[in-house]
Amino acid sequence: MIDEIKKYLAEVEQFNSDSAEEIEAFRIKFLGKKGIQNELFARFKEVPNEQKKEVGQALNQLKVAATNKVNQLKEAIDSESDNRDAIDYTRPGYAVELGSRHPISIVRNRIIEIFKRIGFVLSEGPEIEDDWHNFTALNLPEYHPARDMQDTFFIEKDPDRLLRTHTSSVQIRYMENHKPPLRILSPGRVYRNEAISARSHCMFHQIEGLYIDKEVSFADLRRTLQYFTTELFGKSKIRLRPSYFPFTEPSAEVDVYWGLETETDYKITKGTGWLEIMGCGMVDPNVLTNVGIDPDEYSGYAFGMGLERIALLLYQIGDIRLYFENDKRFLEQFEAEFGFK
Ligand code: PHE
Repeated sequence: MIDEIKKYLAEVEQFNSDSAEEIEAFRIKFLGKKGIQNELFARFKEVPNEQKKEVGQALNQLKVAATNKVNQLKEAIDSESDNRDAIDYTRPGYAVELGSRHPISIVRNRIIEIFKRIGFVLSEGPEIEDDWHNFTALNLPEYHPARDMQDTFFIEKDPDRLLRTHTSSVQIRYMENHKPPLRILSPGRVYRNEAISARSHCMFHQIEGLYIDKEVSFADLRRTLQYFTTELFGKSKIRLRPSYFPFTEPSAEVDVYWGLETETDYKITKGTGWLEIMGCGMVDPNVLTNVGIDPDEYSGYAFGMGLERIALLLYQIGDIRLYFENDKRFLEQFEAEFGFK
């Protein structure tokens, strides 16, 4: 019997297959209920006592060898099929999601591009400003009633620090460090202590422009704004309504004629056809003096607009909160260039 077992052991050792059926057949042949192992075991009682130890050990060895063989071959098949999965070239690829540009960024880039063509360069400044750059230098001395026009967030621990209420502060910084002629555009976030609603927010975006040179006139300002509205909205009819800003004199608000062709036109222009898009004016001589520019030699104009408002007009988005909620379903609608997808 010991020779028989050795023969089987050799068979087990030699067996090799990558077919699941063959391996299963092998298992049944050796380890199944009516398999070789059980059959040999049934004959164990016939083994003479003096051989029992040797035969018993051999039987056990056979069982272990057959079990190991089955497990080992099965594992090999499993891991091979895993590998096949990993390199299945027919599987569709994982979709790569491309982001889309935020509507505020799209509008900002468009405006910058339009003014770049006529020589404006970019200038940026800090969002945490001091009183001088946000107010005083802009002809808004302490206790000036116009300070109330802009509900300001002050930094509690330092009364001189505040969140800038407009990017006009950047114009002061630029004029302090550069000699005219100057032509700058300053985009950025600004802050005002206002309740958040569909129409207002405590943080929004502005772009302001400034042009200082010899003999800059109000006519230059008007012509530049008309060029701008034609390029951005495709509308060239504008009107300037007298207004007040402490840092410009005279000051005006700019309306663009939107038209009354559609129902939406009626709605957004409240039936007038006109839309207010920005504030502007000739830089007040006091402002020039504050930054060391001689108002007798130089003059200039400035203008400022809110980007959310411009985006609202271009995309007809009626609720300012949508811009800041980062809801993918909203953001995904915009493509990098301009317009909806
Ligand atoms: N700074 C003004 C504002 O925040 C806008 C403005 C800029 C008006 C420049 C006139 C000239 O409302």
